[in-house]
Order: sequence, then structure tokens, then C-alpha cells
Amino acid sequence: MPIVEITRCEEFSASHRLHNPALSDEENRKLYGPCNNLNGHGHNYDLFVTVCGEIPVQTGMVMNLHDLMWILREKILPQVDHKHLNHDVPFLQGVIPTAENIAVSLWNQIEPEIERFEGCRLHKIRLYESRNNIVEYRGSKS
Ligand code: NI
Repeated sequence: MPIVEITRCEEFSASHRLHNPALSDEENRKLYGPCNNLNGHGHNYDLFVTVCGEIPVQTGMVMNLHDLMWILREKILPQVDHKHLNHDVPFLQGVIPTAENIAVSLWNQIEPEIERFEGCRLHKIRLYESRNNIVEYRGSKS
């Protein structure tokens, strides 16, 4: 049976500050530039979540995209949308909220939700911090 990938895109808005407390203020400014701004700054993130699996004969769908939308809108995005990622999000505490770290943390939140659906697995997360800055994560197993 062919393995097919399906993707749902959702967006969220959040603010963050890139700052490593182990470095001096000057080193942080040099490393992160304007993203080190003391009071943070915002992004409109686009989150692409790709699930893969075989196509069940009975439904013809790897996973109902409506279910994937519901998981993202009801369970995942409310944790980050209109939040300050440095302060408001328990699963991001202790990490520098770069797009890379956000992608891995979102993966860890989304994966158990997908595993409830038989035959489906989370395949890839693609996070657009802006149109030009994009991070992809495929999990630690691949
Ligand atoms: Ni930023």
C-alpha cells in the first residue's frame, strides 16, 4: 500500500525574545541582533503539520483533515497563540524560543495526539517564522 502524506496549515501569533542568560548582554545583542530586543517582538507563525499513513479502503483518507484541524485548533494552538513564548508557555520554559526549539516542542505536543489515530504517524512539522525563515523537524526517530 502506498504511504501518503497529508498536511494541515494553521497560523498563530506570538511574541518572543531570543536571549541566552549564560551570555553577556553584549554577546546576546551580537548573536541575536534585533531578536534580542529587551521587551520582545512578534511573529505571525504558519505551522504546517504533516501526517502520513496508508489509505484505508473504507474511508480513502489517511486521517480526516478535519480531525487534524480540530487537534491543532483546540489542543495545540491555544497554548501558544497570542502568548509570550518566553513567559506564558509551560512546555517552552527553559528553552530559547527560536523557531527550531518551537518546532521541536510543538512536535512533542502534537505527536501523542496523532498516535491515537490508528495507522497514522506524525511525519513532519514545518514552521514559518516569516515568509523567509522556515524550520522543519521530522522527529528524533528519522
Ligand atoms: Ni523573532
